Parts: sequence; structure tokens; C-alpha cells
Amino acid sequence: MMTLELKEDETSIHKAAAILREGGLVAFPTETVYGLGGDAFNPDSARRIYAAKGRPSDNPLIVHIADMESLDRLCPRIPERLHLLADAFWPGPLTMIVEKRPELPSETTGGLDTVAIRMPHHETALALIREAGGYIAAPSANASGRPSPTLASHVWEDLNGRIDAILDGGEVGIGVESTIVDLSGEVPTILRPGYITEEMLSRVLGEVSVDPTLMHPDATARPKAPGMRYRHYAPKGSMQLVEGEAADVTAEINRRIRESSLRCGVLCTDETKALYEGGLVRSLGNRNDLSSIALQLYRALREFDKEGIEEIYSESFPAEGFGQAVMNRMLKAAGYRILKTGGNKQ
Ligand code: TXA
Ligand code: MG
Repeated sequence: MMTLELKEDETSIHKAAAILREGGLVAFPTETVYGLGGDAFNPDSARRIYAAKGRPSDNPLIVHIADMESLDRLCPRIPERLHLLADAFWPGPLTMIVEKRPELPSETTGGLDTVAIRMPHHETALALIREAGGYIAAPSANASGRPSPTLASHVWEDLNGRIDAILDGGEVGIGVESTIVDLSGEVPTILRPGYITEEMLSRVLGEVSVDPTLMHPDATARPKAPGMRYRHYAPKGSMQLVEGEAADVTAEINRRIRESSLRCGVLCTDETKALYEGGLVRSLGNRNDLSSIALQLYRALREFDKEGIEEIYSESFPAEGFGQAVMNRMLKAAGYRILKTGGNKQ
């Protein structure tokens, strides 16, 4: 199939909405990452999404809406907590999981009896959702297993010829996927960390728990979000996170690169960039500006893939606040491999 290139103007949004209403697939920008959209109430659209991404069909999709009235067709009982969080964070990078109505096709929810819902904070996305009929099911617009797209060119790399159109809205704002909170149980539980942090959620809800599998792999526990089970955000090269005092970290990475016969890449920060003596050195931004680190991460991993980098060493960051989301993605990209330097050498 020929993939159509669309811009953010009104005519393009009309065209994209028409494609979606007819059951086609359109990639579109949101504030977090690009999504691969299909009509949430059309089971064929959901099947096409799984096929285009090469994604297992038991991994449910997020339904994107543009207004609060749309909730009624998705869930039979809207929990008070959803209203509280929506008032605080919607439109925004927060996805909430609630009980679903039987009318919503089980293809969209990967066979689960719950549905993940998000109202994105992005004018083009909201306009598209409204024109397409109010409900766009959309996973991130990457091929399954690759880093999520933060630029339209990333979507072209992965999905050209496999979807009907790509709506180019330039670079996204945040660069990691939305926070997912499960409201279907007793205690609200974070299934995926994101820009909306644990602290921000507990300020509104009180008690919030965090899925314990997020920062540590645990062979005996299954992550609650099916998508968090799969190896994800994976660069082609093998990646390791290096922890310790800044000087120990740069020394260890320099030593390993010196001794390696493979093509090495370093993910570092503006503060340390000049200290690396070999390999392809890529700063993710200022160490104290986590929003820059988050926005650059997937882009840098894709650049390393293009350059044929076989071994990646990355500095690590405190897993607090938004840092929890950044470290969760880095750990997954690294398959949870951590090198400790200094007193605690492995
Ligand atoms: O920022 C985002 O959330 C982006 C943009 C496009 O909105 N979307 C996104 O979708 O990241 P995706 O499909 O790549 O990730 C959705 C995650 C998956 O891990 C999936 O398993 C989980 O949400 N999920 C969806 N519905 C669920 C449900 N009912 N119960 C538990 N987990 C669910
Ligand atoms: Mg994804």
C-alpha cells in the first residue's frame, strides 16, 4: 500500500479522519509519542493495527477521546477517581484503566474486560479524534520492539507501506509514553510511569501503588499491563546502564570502549560529553533537565541503530519524579543490565 504523507492543516485532518472512519490506519502526533490510530469501535481496524506493527494481539490498545461525554460509550460506571484525575491532568499524558462496556470490541482491548483511556494534550490529535467519530484506538506508531517514534520520520522508517497515512506534526513534546494508572481495582496502581508522576497522582488520590515489576524484572511476577511483558524499546545494539560516581562512570565506560572490538556508543549528558575518549558519543541533554533527557532517548537509540552501533553504554539517572519514567525506559532498553562502578564493582 502507498502511505500518504499529510501535514497538520485542516484539509489533511479531514482526509485523515475520512481514512479512519473507513477503517484505515493513520499515524498522528500526540504530546507523548506518535500514535498509530484506527477506529476503536471497528474490530478490523484493531486487527490491522496489530498486523502493521507486528504486535501480539493480546496486547491491548489505548482508546483516545477528545471530551468527557465520550466516556459513556466506553465504560458503564465511571469511577469518581477518574473524574478527579481527569480534572487535574486531562487533556494530558495520563491513561486510565477502567471497566469496559461489552459494545467496545474485544479486539481493541486485547480480550480484557477493561479499557485504557486517554485524552491527549495536542490540538491536531484532538481535532482528528473529533472528526473521526470520537474514538481512536492507538498504540505507539513504532514497529513492535522498536523505540516509540518522537518524529514523523521514525514512523516512516517503521511503517511505510504498511499503513494508509502519516500525519506529520513535527517533534513531540515529551518523548516517552503516557503514565498508565489502573483504576479497576481497590487501590489505584501505576502500571507504567510517565510524565505524570507517582507524587502528582497521590496528591489527588491519596494512596497509589506502583506495579513492583516496573523497575526490576521478576520472573515470578507478571506485569499487569500486557505490553510491559514484552521486550520493548529495544535498540539493535546490546545496552548496559552504568551506575556510580560520575568520575567512576566515565572511567569505566572509557575502559570498556578501549577494550572492545565492537562499534560502541555512549549515551551521556552535556556535563560529561567531553570526557569520553572513544565510541559514538551522544548527549541526551543537561543532567538536571530530565525533560530533555526523556525527549532525546528514543531518538538517540534510533540514531545508534542507523550507525550500526553494537554496544551501548549509558549513564544513569535518579529514578525519582519524572526520572522514574526515564529509568524505566532505559532499564527496558538495556534488558535490565546494570554495571555498578566504584565500591561495588561486579
Ligand atoms: O503515550 C501513549 O500512551 C501513547 C500515545 C500514542 O498515546 N500510546 C502508547 O500505546 O504508548 P502502547 O500501545 O504502545 O502502550 C499501551 C500500554 C501497553 O503496555 C498495554 O499493554 C497497556 O497500555 N494497556 C492497554 N490497555 C490495557 C488494559 N486494559 N489493562 C492493562 N494494560 C493495558
Ligand atoms: Mg508502545
